[in-house]
Amino acid sequence: MSIKYYAKISGTGMSVPEKVLTNFDLEKIVDTTDEWIRTRTGMSERHIASKNEAASDLAYNATLKAIEAANIRNKDIDMIIVATISGDHPFPSTACIIQQKLGLKGFPAFDVSAGCTGWIYASNIAKQYIENGVAENILVIGVEILTKITNWKDRGTCILFGDGAGATIISRAGERDISRFIDSELSADGTHYDLLIQQAGGSRIPASNESVGENLHTVYMEGNKIFKNAVRSMYHACDVVLKRNHLDVHSIDWLITHQANLRIIQALGKKLKIDDKKVIVNIEKYANTSSATIPMALDEAIRNGKIQHGDLVLLASFGAGLTSGSLLLRI
Ligand code: UT7
Repeated sequence: MSIKYYAKISGTGMSVPEKVLTNFDLEKIVDTTDEWIRTRTGMSERHIASKNEAASDLAYNATLKAIEAANIRNKDIDMIIVATISGDHPFPSTACIIQQKLGLKGFPAFDVSAGCTGWIYASNIAKQYIENGVAENILVIGVEILTKITNWKDRGTCILFGDGAGATIISRAGERDISRFIDSELSADGTHYDLLIQQAGGSRIPASNESVGENLHTVYMEGNKIFKNAVRSMYHACDVVLKRNHLDVHSIDWLITHQANLRIIQALGKKLKIDDKKVIVNIEKYANTSSATIPMALDEAIRNGKIQHGDLVLLASFGAGLTSGSLLLRI
């Protein structure tokens, strides 16, 4: 496809629930310790949604901040893509609910299911729509409330997740703009679809008393197998875009990877041979918020002045599917 226009990130925002669950709180729920969680994952606390809080509530708060940062009006948005696996309802899409909350209609709004790689997938889609001239300002959100589909009896998974939303406005770049999306690589390996799965609630195992009793509506994960795949697949996605753009890793100003485990982030950094100081990490405060980790970390790093206008940023993620992907952009 020939590129008619370039896409850029023109604004970001994030939102997390007020309630904080610490590792010490988790010690009272399952057989675990603060020490185990910190040393094996890098997490200290996470934010968890209240009974009445749903994905679109967090996503809407994050969106208002992103719209303000982009300096646009609600009505300038011409597409909404929400990356989530824990939306308000199985259907309709959470994107349509956000559209309603913003008082908008008359343009496409849809959700993308790509697990923790969701925001990278959604941004790649937005990039295409901007580049071919179809859209000018696309709202792309990564949002999850995984703590509502967590098995609180399984210490192998319940300590890992937190809730949150990261919103981005992906806009058409001006002709002289240095900010732009440069490249992106997406992939999936469906042979491992069953390693990370919510087994019930779809057409394979519809909701029933039995499915609820057996906890089949909660996250099932084979953590060890995912761990190995994570480093390999994110490295591949990063390596492809670096090579395709004739870039050395030293030219990257910042690396933001999916925040699933500090050891995964460090292992990827080491394999890429990137300076530790260039790797953005916030897992200790929010834990794994799935599709929201990257837009949340991006928003924080822009707002606290770490990432500056003109910086070259490499983003990488992996997740259920198994999906993986990277995105290279100049902020
Ligand atoms: O978002 C995308 C998908 N998610 C991920 O990327 C997660 C990827 N996986 C991981 O991050 C890690 O595999 C985990 C953090 C889930 C687990 O860490 P691990 O170092 O792979 O631990 P393990 O599963 O090999 O378990 C080691 C030991 C086991 O005990 P034994 O068999 O050695 O006696 C577990 O029973 O740690 C035990 N264990 C725990 N102990 C205390 C597992 N969970 C806990 C816990 N507290 N919460």
